[in-house]
Amino acid sequence: QNTADWTYILSHGLGWGYEDDAGYLGATAMILPYGERVAWICMVLVTASWRNRGIATALLRHCIAQAEDRGWVPGLDATEAGRQVYLPMGFCDILSLTRFKAEPFVGLEKPHDRTCRPMTKADLPAVVRLDEATAGASRAGLLESLHLRTPSLCWVVERDGIIEGFCMGRDGCDADQIGPIVSANDETAIALIGHALQTRPEPLRRIYIDALTDQKAFCLWLGDQGFEKQRGFSRMLKGRSTPLGDPAPLFAIAGPELG
Ligand SMILES: CC(C)(COP(=O)(O)OP(=O)(O)OC[C@H]1O[C@@H](n2cnc3c(N)ncnc32)[C@H](O)[C@@H]1OP(=O)(O)O)[C@@H](O)C(=O)NCCC(=O)NCCS
Repeated sequence: QNTADWTYILSHGLGWGYEDDAGYLGATAMILPYGERVAWICMVLVTASWRNRGIATALLRHCIAQAEDRGWVPGLDATEAGRQVYLPMGFCDILSLTRFKAEPFVGLEKPHDRTCRPMTKADLPAVVRLDEATAGASRAGLLESLHLRTPSLCWVVERDGIIEGFCMGRDGCDADQIGPIVSANDETAIALIGHALQTRPEPLRRIYIDALTDQKAFCLWLGDQGFEKQRGFSRMLKGRSTPLGDPAPLFAIAGPELG
């Protein structure tokens, strides 16, 4: 996460933390509302020397109460350490994610799909609708901000005047993250990521892609291009074992902090 991520989440979400007597903020947790339906819980961070004292649990309880008071379903993408905190609180696994890493990115076959073109502002309503069908909640504000922030990583595939897939991304502290990627099929998802990878403004930066583990062809393609599996995440919802939207067209998420 970089300043732009924190700025976006602080200005669109709600956050709580713990500080010590000297005013050092050593633990945080935030919720980012999506479409008055989902409270995306993020930035659950506890300073190493403060861990195992129940701080994350207390912050999470507060986030959940705030979300449920407003009628929002709490959701998050958990690291394995975080999952140990969330499972006893009633969160259920709904999707498995695999983080792929490449550094720096080299050697990529040129994508051939000529229907892939840069995303424009006029595409955003269609992009938001595609995203909403997979997320189960509107993330219009987030997608608009990603487009403004790094337009060079935003691509669409349009056939017969209909947008059937899109890809977005953002710059981070030490890497670019590519995602979300939503597409009707494997070929379109691969064309989109191929274009984003080839046109990155800083091609020598590390790249992260948090892919849906079940998108086998997409994950195999990433492996063939030299990406390595780095770690897993689990998408979890509180009190629900099924996703809110249809995850079938989802190939990569925006990142665990954004969903
Ligand atoms: C994960 C993290 C937030 C936990 O914070 P914390 O304040 O230590 O958590 P808590 O003290 O509330 O622990 C709650 C429970 O989870 C367990 N737990 C916490 N971290 C764990 C770990 N790494 N492995 C196994 N269990 C763990 C605790 O033992 C505790 O169980 P118990 O109630 O049976 O004793 C903290 O380790 C951290 O900041 N990690 C790095 C960032 C990260 O992964 N954040 C989560 C993003 S999803």
